[in-house]
Amino acid sequence: MSKKKSNKQWLNSQNSDQFVKKARNSHYRSRAVFKLQEIDKKDKLLRSGQYVVDLGAAPGSWSQYAGEKIGVKGKLLAVDILTMETLPNVEFIQGDFTDLEIERKCIEKIGKDGADLVISDMAPNLTGIRATDQARSMDLAECAFEFCQTVLKPGGSLLIKLFEGAGTTEYRALLQEHFKQVVTRKPEASRDQSREFYVLARSYEL
Ligand SMILES: C[S@@+](CC[C@H](N)C(=O)[O-])C[C@H]1O[C@@H](n2cnc3c(N)ncnc32)[C@H](O)[C@@H]1O
Repeated sequence: MSKKKSNKQWLNSQNSDQFVKKARNSHYRSRAVFKLQEIDKKDKLLRSGQYVVDLGAAPGSWSQYAGEKIGVKGKLLAVDILTMETLPNVEFIQGDFTDLEIERKCIEKIGKDGADLVISDMAPNLTGIRATDQARSMDLAECAFEFCQTVLKPGGSLLIKLFEGAGTTEYRALLQEHFKQVVTRKPEASRDQSREFYVLARSYEL
């Protein structure tokens, strides 16, 4: 298929997508917000006063939603390689969270009390080579888990996007060793044709 044709197909699907329309009519920066919103409604993740870390936060719809839910008593640290427009009550660090210097900055900001919840909607830059992309996505997920081991409070939670493929079963098993409850979610706003799904791990045990 020509690049022009596939761009047109993507534009058509964007225009007919109910969640794109919904996002355009809202103050949220991206349709991704409806994935977090659906999971939050079902699993009651976000509460007033929590400390939340949003890994891979740009353009910022998850941070917008989470920031609203935790309110002024809560704190939110957002991290992304890309720049992100400021949001009220959200601290932003620009950089790759796997970079030691960026990780150190995050840990310093979070402080010794730790975070209640880490949310990650990260995806690696895609090469189009499925095995490479899957390996990169699992690498990111492993780094996110290691990050949680440093910053999560006992009893804290991790919500993370994964892509169906090699390594996901082992990853879930790893989470099961460290969290009391691990469940899988495929929100309606996540396109059927997408291999993405979310894993929610709750009650972190040191
Ligand atoms: C799908 S977008 C996130 C959308 C976001 N949840 C929202 O609601 O607006 C994924 C983001 O992950 C970021 N990302 C990927 N790898 C990263 C890394 N190693 N460190 C920080 N951010 C990363 C990308 O730059 C991209 O902005």
